[in-house]
Formats: sequence, structure tokens, C-alpha cells
Amino acid sequence: MPKLIIEGNRCLRGEINLQGAKNSILPILAAAILCEGESVIHNCPRLSDVDTTIKILNYLGCKVKFEGSDLTIDARNVDRDEIPGEFMRKMRSSIIFLGALVSRLGSAKFSLPGGCELGPRPIDMHFSGMRQLGLTLKEKHGVIECNVGRGLVGCNIALSFPSVGATENLILAAVKAKGTTTITNAAREPEIQDLAKYLNSCGAKIRGAGEGTIYIDGVEKLTGTEHTVIPDRIVAITYMAAAAATSGELQLNNVNVGHLSSVIPIFEESGGIIDFPNKNSLIIRAPSRLISTKIIRTMPYPGFPTDAQAPIMAMLCTADGTSVIVENIFESRYKHVGELLRLGADISVEGRTAVIEGVKRLSGAEVKAADLRGAAALVIAGLCAEGVTKISGLSHIDRGYDDIEGNLCKIGAYIKRI
Ligand code: EPZ
Repeated sequence: MPKLIIEGNRCLRGEINLQGAKNSILPILAAAILCEGESVIHNCPRLSDVDTTIKILNYLGCKVKFEGSDLTIDARNVDRDEIPGEFMRKMRSSIIFLGALVSRLGSAKFSLPGGCELGPRPIDMHFSGMRQLGLTLKEKHGVIECNVGRGLVGCNIALSFPSVGATENLILAAVKAKGTTTITNAAREPEIQDLAKYLNSCGAKIRGAGEGTIYIDGVEKLTGTEHTVIPDRIVAITYMAAAAATSGELQLNNVNVGHLSSVIPIFEESGGIIDFPNKNSLIIRAPSRLISTKIIRTMPYPGFPTDAQAPIMAMLCTADGTSVIVENIFESRYKHVGELLRLGADISVEGRTAVIEGVKRLSGAEVKAADLRGAAALVIAGLCAEGVTKISGLSHIDRGYDDIEGNLCKIGAYIKRI
């Protein structure tokens, strides 16, 4: 089984060009099947989740070309409405094809999704919103069959929680429904805005994406377009945490600073100095030792992102003092804590709260990743630990980080994949 070998305790210095956002490209690729034409997507990262999504698009009848970071999707002949179980189990976010398929073909058949083990990940809000739009859903033996009957009709949908996936799925289902759909208590993540921008350039009529209420006026047909994916804010935070944890200095290019507004104060509070050489770059300079921060609570955007919880926890393991993190979004998103303890961290978890007592130094060990952002946390811890760290479970990290070892080597890390 492949492993990442890291020789830690090296100061990271240099520049990284940030990849495109995984959580933006995935819904946009699903949305591409709504367009009876060709879409060209720029700044697409090389990730296993993107590869899985391309396999689904090919299975559904699309022609996909991926050259460099440019992805071309020809969705003129979407002729299958079923997503095989192997794809659904591999990637939870494949549920996003529900809205796109029922919009394009009027029906969809798939098994319940798999993906990261972050506790129970129900899709009740997806289904209740779809039913309100007129979708009939039948489930037997874990396989869902759905049909739009005489067609989807716009309505007012109130989400009980600003779910990112449910907001995206309902936008996809509503873009060609008859009449207007409003989604209240919608998720405000930048990736939602990016999806709406892509769809509007294909001819959709979506207003208010990024705010609490989104208005969608149904249209007859969508055509292809050209679109550049926003930078990946979670990958940005990950590399910033790696530089901060190793008393380093990092310039990040192709970053959208506005997307980091809830996390930049955490880096500054822990002793980091952040400058903005131009509107698409930032430089973080770390002190020799970080200090603990005030309590961190994960929240829906624009609050502190749950995906940043694990990388920031890894950074705080060697900060001077006591840090507290409360994970409010997912039931169990602390699987990385046990592995951080093996590296010498001092963390105690009580329900949704983790208390991190800063230690002077972590020491290398063999550890195993259990999910995507937990894997990133182990890389950060390995980079600042004394000695050698071996990380297995690399399939998790390859889902969301484009060439993580190449980027880290560029700024002085000793990291290789065996
Ligand atoms: C998206 O997942 C992201 N994935 C996640 O990133 C991210 O952590 C999450 O949003 C929150 O920001 C993609 O965009 C592909 P949710 P999603 O629906 O859509 C509950 C990563 O590391 N819920 O906002 O699944 C759910 O159980 C991944 O890149 C329901 O109860 O997140 C969770 O507790 C991990 N019923 C909470 O809402 C529903 O119908 C947030 O889920 C839907 C969700």
C-alpha cells in the first residue's frame, strides 16, 4: 500500500500556485450534463474525485477531454439516467447527479452514496426539496429510483440547515423547472456562487447565490460555455497551516483572499504575519513558535470552515498554550485525533469539543489517514515532527490535493511517496 514518507522539522519557505477548488469543480461537472452543448472548464485540479466524476460523465454518454488543467465536456448525448453503485460508494458527492439527471432526462436511478466517514451523512434535505419540486422517489434495497412525472414545478423550499450539497442539488433540479423556485436558508459557500456563475453563463437564471435566499427562474434549454473554477480555499488553508507549523514563510498565488476571511484572523492570532503582495496572492510568515488561539467553532460559510478543522488542529498541536475547537457541522470529524496522539500531540475530545494542549515538539510515527482533511492534518503534523513520519491511506488525500508532495517539496519539505 503506498505511503507518504516525511522527514519533519524542516522550515518551509517558498511559493505555491493554488489549485482549483475540488468542491466547486465537482458540482460544475454534474451541472455540465444539463447543457446540450460543450463546456470548457479552466483551472481544473488533478484529483481522484475529478477522475471518478469524469468516469460517471463518460458512463452517462458525455465526451470528456482533460488536457493540463482544461476540461472539455460535450454533453450533447446524455443517454443514461443511472449511476452505478461502484461510483456512488466511491464518492459521496456523486449524489449531486440526482438534480442534474432529473433536470436533463426526467428520471434517475442510483444507490445511496458513500464517501468520507464523517458520521451519518443523511440526504433527507435533498429528497424533501426534490419532492417539493414534484419528483417522485422510490427506494428499495438501497437503490433509489426517481421520476419527474409531468415535469418539475418551481416552489418555495426552506432548508432546515444551510446544506451545501442540498443547495447545489436543488439549484440543479430547479434551473429547468416550470416557474420560479426560491431556496431559503441556502448555503452561502463560494462554491455555490461559482456553480451559479457557471450555470448563468450557460443560460440559467439564478439570483442571490452566496446569500441566504436564492431565486431560480426556470428556462427551457442550457448551452455550453467557458468557465474558470475558483481557487481551493481549503487547500490554501492547508498549505498556510503547514508553513505556520514549521516556522516557515510561504507565498500563495492564485488565491481568493475574500474566501479566507474567517481563517486569516486565526493565523494572525497564533502569531503569523500575513501580507498581500497583490490581489491574488498572500504571504504568511510564521514565528518560531505559534501561540494558542481563542476558541474555534466550525460554522457554515462565512464562518470557520469545517474542512479547515483538521489542518488547523494539526498546526495548533505545537502552539504554546491551550486551544479549543468545536466541530458543529459533522457528527464525527475527529478521526485524525487518535493518529495525532501517536505523533505525540496532547488532545482530548469530549463530544464535539477538542482541547489541544500545545507540546514543544511532535515526534515521527507510522499513522493512517481515515478521511480527506484528516489526511492533510497528518501531513502537517509530520512536517513539523522530529524524525520520520509514514502516512498510509493516501487514497483519501488524493481525492482533494493535486500533487501535494510536489508542492511541498517545492518549498523545502522532505516528502516522498513510496
Ligand atoms: C460539502 O459536503 C463538502 N463536499 C464538504 O467537503 C464540506 O465539509 C461540507 O459541504 C460542509 O461545508 C463537497 O462539496 C463535495 P452539507 P456536504 O450537506 O454537501 C447534514 C471535503 O473535505 N445534512 O453542508 O455533504 C450533514 O450530515 C468535504 O472537501 C443533513 O442532515 O455537506 C452534515 O452534518 C468533506 N441532511 C451537515 O448537514 C442533508 O440532506 C453539513 O452537510 C444534507 C446534509
